Amino acid sequence: MKVMGARKVLVTGCSSGIGLAVAVRLAKDELRRFKVVATMRDLDRREALEKAAGETLNRSLEIRQLDATCEDSIRECVNSLSDRRVDVLVNNAGVGMIGPLECQSVSDMQELFNTNFFGLVRLVKELLPDMKQRQSGHIVVMSSVLGIQGLLFNDVYAASKFAVEGFCESLAVQAMKFNVKMTLVEPGPVVTEFEKKVYEEAEKMDLSETDEETARIFRQIYLPYSRKVFNSVGQTPEDVAEQTLQLIVSKNPPFRHQTNRLYMPLTAMKHADPTGQLPIDAFYKMIFQHDRMLNATLSILRILHRRMGHGAA
Ligand SMILES: NC(=O)c1ccc[n+]([C@@H]2O[C@H](COP(=O)([O-])OP(=O)(O)OC[C@H]3O[C@@H](n4cnc5c(N)ncnc54)[C@H](OP(=O)(O)O)[C@@H]3O)[C@@H](O)[C@H]2O)c1
Repeated sequence: MKVMGARKVLVTGCSSGIGLAVAVRLAKDELRRFKVVATMRDLDRREALEKAAGETLNRSLEIRQLDATCEDSIRECVNSLSDRRVDVLVNNAGVGMIGPLECQSVSDMQELFNTNFFGLVRLVKELLPDMKQRQSGHIVVMSSVLGIQGLLFNDVYAASKFAVEGFCESLAVQAMKFNVKMTLVEPGPVVTEFEKKVYEEAEKMDLSETDEETARIFRQIYLPYSRKVFNSVGQTPEDVAEQTLQLIVSKNPPFRHQTNRLYMPLTAMKHADPTGQLPIDAFYKMIFQHDRMLNATLSILRILHRRMGHGAA
């Protein structure tokens, strides 16, 4: 069936998680407003997407190869589209990294930036000129609450999302002049393979390069808390996908959108104190001094989250 007048949406990183959920949600739109180009770097990992896409496969959803770290791959994908037309870019591909800085290599950090930050830069460089020429388009970027507020042992990942936010904030004014919209989607914890991958890597991480106290804080305090946070307030990728669809169809989409209301008190601290001391003191106290209170709060949040119908299964 031909989808008439549908907007062409290119989504990156669709082999799993949020990218897969966004691609499928848009492809299954009841009003058939989208034609989705669901991309992934490794087409051998397409099975989950094909299964989830069901009847929409090769109708309102087509799968293409795109590696965010490779300009040729991006160009080839875009050139393969009719008139190179992309109305909406959902830049989602991303990787995580947690742990003490001393145990991470600079080349691993550069690789992370190459995907999370330069991947976005490459896609925007490829697509923005066409959007400017057409005087229309929407660039939707999967950022994170860690692009607003840093977090213990997430130093390099948070830095990559801060870079994403600074890049988009700067570009948004120029984009506006050409009627191109920009939106940063800022999820809190989302239960996807992302979480699984970073925990698996953290478990087998060689901590011999750091001191005993830092290794203890990471293993015995940070990792268990982080898991509790995911269990208590973690969203489903489908929930993030639904909110992303609403942003795409909105006439006036906001520049920033946080998907998890329960995480907002933490990010709000950033704006409440221009010196930056409030969130740093609060995180320090939560983690090192008031762990019982934090545990109790997480239990309450977990109940609230389930009642709101947002809890991950
Ligand atoms: N999960 C969370 O808690 C959370 C919270 C806030 C923001 N986010 C952000 O949401 C986005 C999606 O994460 P997710 O949770 O859905 O994780 P995920 O399930 O691990 O999905 C990440 C996707 O990115 C793809 N990818 C990685 N490197 C790529 C590259 N060079 N080129 C193209 N695709 C690449 C992965 O492909 P492969 O299968 O080939 O690895 C995968 O499809 C990321 O930008 C992440 O930073 C996640």
